[in-house]
Amino acid sequence: MVLKLAAIVAYFSLNLLFSQVKTDTCDTYIHSQYGKGHCVDQIQCPNSLFVSGLCESHPPNIECCFPRNSTANEEFRAVWIATVENIDWPSSNIASTIEQQTELIHILHTVQLLNMNAVVFQVRTSGDAFYSSTLEPWSYYLTAAQGVAPSPFWDPLAFIIDEAHKRNIEVHAWLNPYRARTTGATYELAPSNMAKRFPEYAYPYAKNIWMDPGAAVVQEFIVNVTEDIVTRYAVDGIHMDDYFYPYSDGTEFPDAATYAAYQEQGGHLNKSDWRRSNVNTLIQSMYIRMHAVRPKVKFGISPFGIWKSGVPAGISGLSSYDELYCDSRMWLEEGLIDYMTPQLYWQIDPPAQSYPVLLNWWVEQSAKGRHVYPGNALYRVSPSVSDWPLNEMIRQISITRSMRDHLALGNVFFSLSEIMNNVKGIQNALAILYQEKAIVPKMDWL
Ligand SMILES: *[C@@H]1O[C@H](CO)[C@@H](O)[C@H](O)[C@H]1NC(C)=O
Ligand SMILES: *[C@@H]1O[C@H](CO)[C@@H](O)[C@H](O)[C@H]1NC(C)=O
Ligand SMILES: *[C@@H]1O[C@H](CO)[C@@H](O)[C@H](O)[C@H]1NC(C)=O
Repeated sequence: MVLKLAAIVAYFSLNLLFSQVKTDTCDTYIHSQYGKGHCVDQIQCPNSLFVSGLCESHPPNIECCFPRNSTANEEFRAVWIATVENIDWPSSNIASTIEQQTELIHILHTVQLLNMNAVVFQVRTSGDAFYSSTLEPWSYYLTAAQGVAPSPFWDPLAFIIDEAHKRNIEVHAWLNPYRARTTGATYELAPSNMAKRFPEYAYPYAKNIWMDPGAAVVQEFIVNVTEDIVTRYAVDGIHMDDYFYPYSDGTEFPDAATYAAYQEQGGHLNKSDWRRSNVNTLIQSMYIRMHAVRPKVKFGISPFGIWKSGVPAGISGLSSYDELYCDSRMWLEEGLIDYMTPQLYWQIDPPAQSYPVLLNWWVEQSAKGRHVYPGNALYRVSPSVSDWPLNEMIRQISITRSMRDHLALGNVFFSLSEIMNNVKGIQNALAILYQEKAIVPKMDWL
């Protein structure tokens, strides 16, 4: 009797829960905004708006697919999931497999509820792997010992791709190219870490271990790692952040021997140009090799938001061209990447690093029509960081949208934790800004 009562209560609660879900035959579905959709398996819905939860009569993989010519928005709505130092996930490297998986599901569920459509998931923080690899060791930030596989075994990258795709969320695998160990870390490197494979090119620098970007084997190894990922995983994108040559600690980066070897072989570039060309070579090789394997995978980079101090006029700050040897403008101009996510981690108003001034400059550099999805410093809304008013973020999104006709087609937030912690009510703000679903912008050249 008690059981039966419980069953009835459960039945009615479920009905209540689903009462907002519209019933339909779901071979087709007429949506008030998107028009007529066809209900299909997700894989039959490429580059289209794939809306779940419309039909209660179908299994979860059967959803409604609306044509791209409908009035659907195209906007990249992404968040970085930083794994280095357990910034966003996993909350602990000694948490169990099931705990780490549960956290990831909760994250994706939240991202989905907010109508966001992409995550930039850090899979290689420092010559390590958040996926099963024969080239590199398991990450210390996953299992608390570099090179030790999770137990019970699982593959976080495969897992997040499966779970994200079910929710119509893209996964961009985020790789740090040259860093072999992060600032101040003291954990033991596994024998397969790149610093152990190529010790002659691994330098202690700024409390990190940093690989020499001028070494051909280092470049080749990173390209091999990239190719391996796109070969074995259905990632939607490959992503790199702002770390190229390391941020200076005031001393010279110790690559004199590599540069001398370059000169001995007849190289004529001065050291700064040579360093930039080393990074450029890596970017170009990555682009070519990943597209040879998977032509539609998107390559995006999120460099420091100022290319050169003084460009455009009125902007001042660190010159990533000179300090990090990062010619990010050229990558966008020449189309060496598919999207550019300059880290515009400044406010709208102070003119020296003004968000709209910089964004406007960046979109003007996109001679080949590559997309620009600026990176936004959501972390600076936190009271413990910069205590920006939430309205700063909201206005930055609006400013980005005001430049959508100039290829500013979305935003990437750093980082996930502020969203999960609902700092200053960011979830409520996003729920309004992202009230309507959006598809990721289509890239016609891929
Ligand atoms: C979209 O395309 C379909 C078929 O190609 C056409 O019937 C429909 O009118 C189009 N809708 C819009 C909004 O252009
Ligand atoms: C890159 O991969 C190729 C093909 O597997 C291999 O021959 C080469 O040695 C690799 N390079 C490095 C630096 O590991
Ligand atoms: C390096 O060479 C380039 C091109 O010739 C030049 O513009 C630049 O000023 C030189 N840089 C240094 C530091 O000498």
